[in-house]
Amino acid sequence: MSSRRRQVYEGKAKILYEGPEPGTLIQYFKDDATAFNAQKKGTINGKGVINNRISEHVFTRLAHIGIPTHFIRRLNMREQLVRQVEIIPIEVIVRNVAAGSLTKRLGIEEGEPLPHTLIEYCYKDDALGDPFVSEEEIACFNWASHEEMQDISSMAIRINDFMCGMFAAIGIRLIDFKIEFGRIWDGDFSRTILADEISPDGCRLWDIATGEKLDKDRFRRDLGGEEQAYQEVARRLGLLQDDNTPGEVFDMSAHRSRLRTSPKPKK
Ligand code: TMP
Repeated sequence: MSSRRRQVYEGKAKILYEGPEPGTLIQYFKDDATAFNAQKKGTINGKGVINNRISEHVFTRLAHIGIPTHFIRRLNMREQLVRQVEIIPIEVIVRNVAAGSLTKRLGIEEGEPLPHTLIEYCYKDDALGDPFVSEEEIACFNWASHEEMQDISSMAIRINDFMCGMFAAIGIRLIDFKIEFGRIWDGDFSRTILADEISPDGCRLWDIATGEKLDKDRFRRDLGGEEQAYQEVARRLGLLQDDNTPGEVFDMSAHRSRLRTSPKPKK
């Protein structure tokens, strides 16, 4: 089906196709996984199906609290219809707990709660390795206006507050995540909306009880059990229930020693 459509862009984890109407795109989720600026490449079986579902769920719930997003509707197992945006070339990283590059850069121990939520910006450029940039540099090179940065930072904080609660309710600690925004033009005016995806590819999610990693760090650090971890997040969000769509619930027993799960907390 997708082969007949015009491909607009291929990224590391997704492909964008022309949508059925002007101003729309079809976002196709691949199983491909990369890390360390694509120096490490692999596949996580079924990841595209799970991320499509998780991202649909998170974007839909964010829309309910008034965050404007590019998501229109899910089309099938691996595809969703989205609004076409002009992507703002900034990766917005929100951190609650020290992990990943922050621990390396500042020598802070992984798992250390931060005194307050941090927002960081990286310039989206694979050739440069998505370097860390200051707000002054963003303004200087006109990657985003002052007003856009205000919208972006206030939405990032609201998204973080909402997602911390959403994940805490299913026994998951939201350590950090990356989001991207885009512009929608209406004549000379533009609006900033949430774009891309929100999934275990771009979030650090730790089990509250055991500290087990339920995200792409399993792939980055060769911990194994990445498929089961992504499934577990979807299962706890209530996205893989009786009929097991979008796929079988994996038997976790093979990974129990490395990936313990905690029961869903009582409401
Ligand atoms: P970092 O600790 O490697 O800077 O990553 C912070 C968060 O952002 C983590 O949840 C992973 C996510 N992230 C991406 O989704 N894509 C990227 O290219 C990078 C560097 C991080």
